[in-house]
Amino acid sequence: MKTLKFPEHFVWGAATSAYQIEGAAKEDGRGESIWDRFSGTPNHVEDGSNGDVACDHYHRWRTDIELMHRLELSAYRFSIAWPRIFPRGRGSMNAAGIDFYDRLVDGLLAKGIGPYATLYHWDLPQALEDEGGWANRETVEAFVGYVDAVTRRLGDRVLGWITHNEPWCASMLGYCTGRHAPGLRDWPRALAASHHLLLSHGLATHVIRSNVKRASVGITLNLTPTVPASPSVEDYDASRHMDGFQNRWFLDPLYRRQYPADMIADYVAAGYLPPAGATFVRPGDMDTIATQTDFLGVNYYNRTVCRSDRIPEEKNLPRTVELAPKSEWTEMGWEVYPDGLFQILTRVALEYMVPKIYVTENGASYSEGPDAMGRVADVRRRQFVHDHLASAHRALVAGVPLAGYFVWSLLDNFEWDRGYTQRFGITWVDYATQKRVPKDCALWYRSVIAENGIIEA
Ligand code: FCB
Repeated sequence: MKTLKFPEHFVWGAATSAYQIEGAAKEDGRGESIWDRFSGTPNHVEDGSNGDVACDHYHRWRTDIELMHRLELSAYRFSIAWPRIFPRGRGSMNAAGIDFYDRLVDGLLAKGIGPYATLYHWDLPQALEDEGGWANRETVEAFVGYVDAVTRRLGDRVLGWITHNEPWCASMLGYCTGRHAPGLRDWPRALAASHHLLLSHGLATHVIRSNVKRASVGITLNLTPTVPASPSVEDYDASRHMDGFQNRWFLDPLYRRQYPADMIADYVAAGYLPPAGATFVRPGDMDTIATQTDFLGVNYYNRTVCRSDRIPEEKNLPRTVELAPKSEWTEMGWEVYPDGLFQILTRVALEYMVPKIYVTENGASYSEGPDAMGRVADVRRRQFVHDHLASAHRALVAGVPLAGYFVWSLLDNFEWDRGYTQRFGITWVDYATQKRVPKDCALWYRSVIAENGIIEA
């Protein structure tokens, strides 16, 4: 038996987001978000559900903190719902909204659990979407105002600030594929949205630093290693394009002050950008976006195998398909590929010289529920987390400055366009009774935290 030990002070956490767990969608002055509007529109969410109640965390936060305490988590990553703080995105602050997070943060600290707050996890106030949302540059200013208010109030107690969660999803799934709120299919707007999200991150970083002494600030990206499905030139190019679309379009501006030239060329060729290129970029923007941060958050779920499949409607962009014949898949339809975490972590450390990294999400959707004895034997999830931690450990040994790991998710919850059909929790939630049952994976994770490592048989 050997133990793969993690560094001293390694942060062990679990993650959630506001819309996915809180419920109380209309309480205490919370405004409408784009996810309320989107899920309220037929055929957007697989099971027709929404986040009106979700895990009822807004009322059950005390017992949820108890649960985290029992699991011996050293940290908890949650998100703040912008429409609770500014129901219409800007203007006067809703005191009841910020009070909720104030109590949550104090409750966590009282149990020795470090609060890590995400400022934007996709729940834009609908009032701002009505003005064009992230495709409208004015949303940037509204975001900065919201961040200013939140960090003035909570800055003295939150250990880590994550400006945005997965700007790729917020821009591309929201404004381009239409799978997420606000459900638009408009490439030029999606590209503008991605820029405004990044710009707002840079400006918010400055605001947080001026409000909070010794603040630790970063952004979370969802990164995926891309590989060609075959050695053909076409598949290689599809892989290059996918890497640019999903990874480099965000990493390059943040760490190299520029958008990748090959992607600008692809988008111009497709007519998604004008011949002059990214005209939404104004002087000074790239410097702002590349403002140095304290850490990068990496969300890792799977890799993307790319096959060129050019179809006319997509204006000649290489389309990608995911296929990995011999692989295992989670119920999301995502390939289980632990080595990808090692690949991503070493890549960002070496190619982008990221000074500090947290895995801010990693986990798997499997639907096992309680057996007759009330036990949830989620063997595959436990194996998944084990294998990804082993992969992260290899990255540490290779010199990657990995400082923490947050499993997605603390609770089964509302999985966006998939509704409640997917269960990512290390804790089972019975939505009828709101009862929580820590799954076997959670109990095993507690032993990992206690050991500060994984015991390999
Ligand atoms: C990520 C999201 C998170 C959750 C997981 C499964 O893209 O950040 O909210 O839905 O996927």
